[in-house]
Amino acid sequence: MNLRPFIKIDDELSLHLARPELAEPVFNTVDTHRTYLRQWLPWVDSTTSVEDTKTYIRESMQHNTAGTRLTTFIMLGGKIAGSIGVVHFVKDHKKCEIGYWLREDIQGRGIMTKICASFIHHLFKTKDLNRIEILVAGGNQKSRNVPLRLGFSSEGILRQSLLMYGKYFDVELFALLKNDWERGEYAWIF
Ligand SMILES: CC(C)(COP(=O)(O)OP(=O)(O)OC[C@H]1O[C@@H](n2cnc3c(N)ncnc32)[C@H](O)[C@@H]1OP(=O)(O)O)[C@@H](O)C(=O)NCCC(=O)NCCS
Repeated sequence: MNLRPFIKIDDELSLHLARPELAEPVFNTVDTHRTYLRQWLPWVDSTTSVEDTKTYIRESMQHNTAGTRLTTFIMLGGKIAGSIGVVHFVKDHKKCEIGYWLREDIQGRGIMTKICASFIHHLFKTKDLNRIEILVAGGNQKSRNVPLRLGFSSEGILRQSLLMYGKYFDVELFALLKNDWERGEYAWIF
């Protein structure tokens, strides 16, 4: 698939804004990896057809245009690899929350850490933001490692903040301030 990237990360890796042509490959990726992905992404079970992904992409495009979210899909070597996005902006407080997922077969290579670093760099450079948050469900160690590697601070545990598959999960709040990022302590990532 040859689409103009939103952010080119390297020769193989790029981010693409939500658009209709991506519905089918995104659905196929979720469908192939659903057993793995559903563990931490409860929306997977309700994504049962390309139509569901088309609806999600349509909504995402509206939010991207309105500036209320920023949904992008990750492509690796021309194939959908996952997604990273701003799940909501809180403009009055100059902050946002980001979320992400990656295909199971390409995990363990530092891909998400690299993508997250580029995405954060883009957000601080282009949006009027002071703070970026990542919320991680208790027990999701792989996800927890991403903000830790990027220098986010763990700011506390929101007890039983997430109800998933009939069970309450604690949620850990991670945050990175623009000052932290600008101090350049994370320049090694680029
Ligand atoms: C969260 C998720 C994206 C993390 O994927 P990941 O592959 O572990 O993360 P990265 O791509 O950054 O890779 C890091 C791993 O690669 C290794 N690695 C190899 N080369 C690396 C490099 N150059 N830089 C950083 N890490 C590197 C790291 O040691 C780490 O492995 P480890 O966990 O065994 O220590 C993935 O597990 C996922 O999609 N989970 C399901 C969805 C989900 O939970 N989303 C988050 C909801 S909050």
